Amino acid sequence: MEKLQIINKAKAFARSELGGDPSGHDWWHVWRVAKLAKRLAAEEQADAFICELTAWLHDVADEKLNDNEETGLQKVELWLKEHGIDIEDQQHILAIIQTMSFKGGGRQPMQTLEGKVVQDADRLDALGAIGIARTFAYSGARGQLIYDPSITVREHLTHAAYRNEKSTAINHFYEKLLKLKVTMNTAYGQQLAEERHRFMLEYLDNFYKEWEEN
Ligand code: ADP
Ligand code: NI
Repeated sequence: MEKLQIINKAKAFARSELGGDPSGHDWWHVWRVAKLAKRLAAEEQADAFICELTAWLHDVADEKLNDNEETGLQKVELWLKEHGIDIEDQQHILAIIQTMSFKGGGRQPMQTLEGKVVQDADRLDALGAIGIARTFAYSGARGQLIYDPSITVREHLTHAAYRNEKSTAINHFYEKLLKLKVTMNTAYGQQLAEERHRFMLEYLDNFYKEWEEN
C-alpha cells in the first residue's frame, strides 16, 4: 500500500475510534497533533511517515477509550499488521505510543527522533489557548469545578487526576500544563511551547484578577 493511502486509512481509523469523544480528546485533537507532527518532522528532519502515522494512531490505545492500555495497544498492533507496515516500523510506532503518555512514566525518555517529535506535538496541544479549552472541556466532562480557592496548589495534589481524585480545571494548570514546557524534546517544539506557556500564565493572571474583582 502507498504511504499516502496508509495515512488516509489511519485517519479514518482514528476518526471511527475517537469520533466525538467529548473530553477534549476527540478526533480534532488527533488531527491537530498529526498536523503539528508533520511540521515538526520537517523542522527536525525526522521520518515524516512514521511521525504522521504515529500521531494519527497515538490516542486509539488510550486507556480512557479501552479496557486497559494493553488492549488498546493490541488494537493498534493489529491495525499495523493488517495494513502491511514493516515489522521494524510496527515496533517503532508501538514503542513511541507506549512511551508517550505523561502518566505512563512521562519521565521515561523517548528513544528516537520520531518519538520526540510526536510527543512534542501531543504535549503542545495541551498548551496555550487550545490547551486551556481542552482542560475546561475535560474538567467539565469529569464533573470538576472551574476553580475552588479552598483547593490550594500543593505538591501532593500533583497528578491528583491520575490517582482519580477530583481536582479543578485551574489546578490542572499546576498539576500538568505549566510543567510541560521544560519537557519539550525538540528545539522547534520548545520555541512553540514558550509562547503557549506565556499565554497560559497571562490567562491565569487575568483569571485571578477577575476573581478578586467580584
Ligand atoms: P493526551 O493523552 O492527549 O496528552 P490526556 O488524555 O492526558 O491528553 O488529557 C486530555 C486533555 O485533558 C489534555 O488537554 C489534558 O491537559 C486535559 N486533562 C487531563 N486531565 C485533566 C484533569 N484532571 N483536569 C482537567 N484537564 C485535564
Ligand atoms: Ni493525545
